[in-house]
Amino acid sequence: MTEKKKPLVVVTRKLPDVIETRMMELFDARLNSDDTPLTHAQLIEAAQVADVLVPTVTDRIDRDLIEKAGPQLRLIASFGTGVDHIDLKAARERGISVTNTPGVLTEDTADMTMALLLAVARRLAEGERLVRTGQWAGWGPTTMLGHRIWGKRLGILGMGRIGQALARRARAFGMSIHYHNRRRVHPDVELELEATYWDSLDQMLARMDVVSINCPHTPATYHLLSERRLRLLRPHCYIINTSRGEVIDETALTKMLSKGEIAGAGLDVFEHEPAVNPKLLRLDNVVLLPHMGSATIEGRIDMGEKVIVNIKTFVDGHAPPDRVLETLL
Ligand code: 8YV
Repeated sequence: MTEKKKPLVVVTRKLPDVIETRMMELFDARLNSDDTPLTHAQLIEAAQVADVLVPTVTDRIDRDLIEKAGPQLRLIASFGTGVDHIDLKAARERGISVTNTPGVLTEDTADMTMALLLAVARRLAEGERLVRTGQWAGWGPTTMLGHRIWGKRLGILGMGRIGQALARRARAFGMSIHYHNRRRVHPDVELELEATYWDSLDQMLARMDVVSINCPHTPATYHLLSERRLRLLRPHCYIINTSRGEVIDETALTKMLSKGEIAGAGLDVFEHEPAVNPKLLRLDNVVLLPHMGSATIEGRIDMGEKVIVNIKTFVDGHAPPDRVLETLL
């Protein structure tokens, strides 16, 4: 009996070794061992030969690429939860399925969000810089004062898995939980988190001490925190973003942070990453991270395993568990 031909799977970035090894066993895997991101032209070349493409957030899978893909490309199995780098409509029109890796990076991303929240409110990065640069002159009763987070109001914008995981952590730190979401979450969840639902985002923003962005970036959430909405925040408010930079108008945010109209920000993502607004780099009231919300070895392996399961079930003729449906975004 002849063995069934293995699908050609093109992976655009270096993945954890165990994942790459398993992929090579299961598929005709074309890996990127030196991890140099592919150019748009190289991505198109990949789409012209691959049966399955495994991109990440750093690859733009746009209409142009999808239209130039070969007819054999049937699945885009993205490594990551956010799918804003993929033109889902173009993929659907070409009959290409898209999968992602939800769930497995929830806890790590919520940890990082909480870490940023604490870091901004308690001036962690600033204090660290003081020590490292030899500028610390010793303890003082009124030096390096941050703000207590216990008893403060946290407004979560996007109460999905990560928003809820953040709420659980923040409650343990004594914060009260408020949220805005397209849909109100199940009453049991609200009860467990003692969360207050705000139908009006504007009204919520005007009353919070900390606002965390935890919604996906979609056409509907692009610049959801526009300059007008940022102006609704009280000047002592902190903003945390571990979702996507595009959800906030970064130019307006930077301007307001530098004028002290917003107290501080913890940003893991940027509107034009990896480029960061140079004015942000000069501010002391911001903590800036290089998109590392889900960056744990355990998380990356779990994500890779999800990619493998999605590909395997798909090529075996079943519905992959993490198929992305535009209507559910
Ligand atoms: C991932 C993320 O590291 O999954 C996401 O949506 O933002 C990150 O945590 C990245 O997207 C991997 O492609």
